[in-house]
Amino acid sequence: MNSGADRASGELRVALRTGIARLEQCNIPSAPLAAELLLMHVLRRDRAWLYAHPEYELSSEEAGAYSHFVERRRKGVPTQYLTGRQEFWGLEIEVGPGVLIPRPETEHVIEVALERLGRRRAQSLRIADVGTGSGCIAIALARELPHADIVATDTSAVALEYARRNAARHEVSGRIQFFETHLLDSCLELSGRPRRPFDLIVSNPPYVGRKDAVDLPREIREHEPAEALFAGDQGLDIYPALVDEAAQALCPNGILVVEIGYNLAEHARSLLAAPRWSDLMVTRDLAGIERVISAKFAP
Ligand SMILES: C[S@@+](CC[C@H](N)C(=O)[O-])C[C@H]1O[C@@H](n2cnc3c(N)ncnc32)[C@H](O)[C@@H]1O
Repeated sequence: MNSGADRASGELRVALRTGIARLEQCNIPSAPLAAELLLMHVLRRDRAWLYAHPEYELSSEEAGAYSHFVERRRKGVPTQYLTGRQEFWGLEIEVGPGVLIPRPETEHVIEVALERLGRRRAQSLRIADVGTGSGCIAIALARELPHADIVATDTSAVALEYARRNAARHEVSGRIQFFETHLLDSCLELSGRPRRPFDLIVSNPPYVGRKDAVDLPREIREHEPAEALFAGDQGLDIYPALVDEAAQALCPNGILVVEIGYNLAEHARSLLAAPRWSDLMVTRDLAGIERVISAKFAP
C-alpha cells in the first residue's frame, strides 16, 4: 500500500512543482513552461485541463515517463525534441533530432512574403523554399496561398522526412515537391534556368558563424543539427550562392525573401544591389533586430 507521501507525490500539482524545481536546479530556461509542456505531453492533455485537475493522481507509468522527460530536459535536450512538436504560424509542426525547431521570428518571412505578393496572392504562383527543414515555411505558404505550387529543397534527408510528414499532416502534400539538393540545384535546368521560373523564393538558410558556436545555448549547440545552423566561420557562406541562384530562378519582378542573422543585414544588402535587384526592404523582428531582407528581381 502507498504511504501518504507516495500518494502526494503522484498528485499532478506536486509533480508539476517537483518538475519545475528539478529543472530550475539545472538553470533550465523557462522551467515552469517546460515542466508544463512535458506534463501535458505525458498526459495528452492541454494546459486548461492541467489547471482544472490539480488533484489528478498520476499513474506510476505517467509519473515515470514524466520524470524521465524532466531528466532529459535537465541534460539539455530541447523541450520540443521531447514533445515532438512546435507551433509555427498556428500550425503544429512535428520536429525531432536532425531537424531545426522552427523559431517564432521566422514567421516574419511568411508575413513579408504575403505582404510583398499583394494582389498576386490570388494568382497561380510558383514558389521555392530553400533549406526547408521541417517544411514550416513551405507549409504555411501553401496553406495561405491555395493556388501556389511549391518546390522545397534541403540537403538533409532526415529534415526532408519530417517536412514530408508535416506536409501530409496539413494536407498540402499535393502542392509541395521536395528535393534533396544543394540550394536550387535540382530546379535549375542545364541552361541555368528552371523550365518555369519562380514568382517567389523564400529561405531561412544557415547563418551562424562557427566562431560564434560557443555563445549558443547548450540546447542549440549540442542538439540541433549543425548543417541547419552554421555557414562557415562568419556565417556568410550561403548568402552569395543563394542570391546568385535566386537571380537565375526568379521570373522578372519575382520576389526574394530571406531571413538574416544578427548583424548580417549590411552583407545581405550588398548582395541585393541595383540594377539586378530593386525595392529592397529590411524588416525588423519584435526584438527590433533586422531579421528579414526582401527584394524584387529586376533583370
Ligand atoms: C536554419 S534551417 C531552416 C529550416 C526551416 N526552413 C525553418 O525555418 O525552420 C536551414 C536548413 O537549410 C538546410 N541546408 C543547409 N545547407 C543547405 C544547402 N546548401 N542547400 C539546401 N539546404 C541546406 C539545413 O539542412 C536546414 O534544414
